[in-house]
Amino acid sequence: MLTFNQVDFYYKKGQPVLENISFTIESGEFIAIVGANGCGKSTIAKLMDGLVLPKGGSVQFNNLNTSSPEDLIQLHEQIGLVFQNPEDQFITTTVMDEILFGLENIRVPREEMLDRLHHALKAVYMEGYLEAMPHELSGGQKQRVAIAAILAMRPQMIIFDEATSMLDPKGREQVISIMHELHQQGMTIVYITHHMEEVLSAERMLLIHQGKLEYDGDPLTFFETTNATNYQLQLPFAVKLHQKLQLQAPLNADWKEMIGSQWSTNSTK
Ligand SMILES: Nc1ncnc2c1ncn2[C@@H]1O[C@H](COP(=O)(O)OP(=O)(O)O)[C@@H](O)[C@H]1O
Ligand SMILES: [Mg+2]
Repeated sequence: MLTFNQVDFYYKKGQPVLENISFTIESGEFIAIVGANGCGKSTIAKLMDGLVLPKGGSVQFNNLNTSSPEDLIQLHEQIGLVFQNPEDQFITTTVMDEILFGLENIRVPREEMLDRLHHALKAVYMEGYLEAMPHELSGGQKQRVAIAAILAMRPQMIIFDEATSMLDPKGREQVISIMHELHQQGMTIVYITHHMEEVLSAERMLLIHQGKLEYDGDPLTFFETTNATNYQLQLPFAVKLHQKLQLQAPLNADWKEMIGSQWSTNSTK
């Protein structure tokens, strides 16, 4: 369980980025975080992992507190972070080293390392790439190796900070399906994204707007009841279509009437 308790944050005093943010993410949830560019989503990801510390309030993961220096090592092990740019993810020179590097850091016994290495690469469909070098990989493959390096640490939660936004459609689809597979296996997933189609598949959505937590709930209900464009969010295609049909058809019309009215509107143009 991860809890933000009345969290305030700024980079420069007098210029608040986040104000009085409170929410709890239960173990095993799939949660999306959305909001306009610069609203503080990446800052929230960094607060979750203790890369930055709250100026007011607290961030807790189970019994660990990000503001307690002695808890940080365990926090970094239990919460993994995948960033936006696939180029930034590699530290070493081969896929194998990339994964072993993290394991050596947390002093995993040698005999356990190989087991973790193979399981992690299998989970992201990259078993055949042990010796591959970063420049031989596509953006999507790099992101998958970054995910494998995190999985090898056996975390409880993974945060994807716009981790699909620089990928081609195929790479994006693969990374997203891996996210859902991991969730089905019990991993807590936090997905920060601009892609509203993908938000609809999350169980819960947090919207950050002008430093505040503006919405916390079911994404479908949000798009049904709120004008998402007020928050500089794209409308999911299904919602756009639904609204268009409602505008053009009489209220409560059944689908045949909707199609009929759509057709007659077009035919008179
Ligand atoms: N290291 C930093 N130093 C100063 N200001 C920053 C830093 N990182 C982000 N900011 C500012 O904090 C605000 C929130 O940024 P960020 O969390 O990256 O937003 P998002 O991920 O939603 O685009 C922005 O105004 C941004 O310019
Ligand atoms: Mg960001």
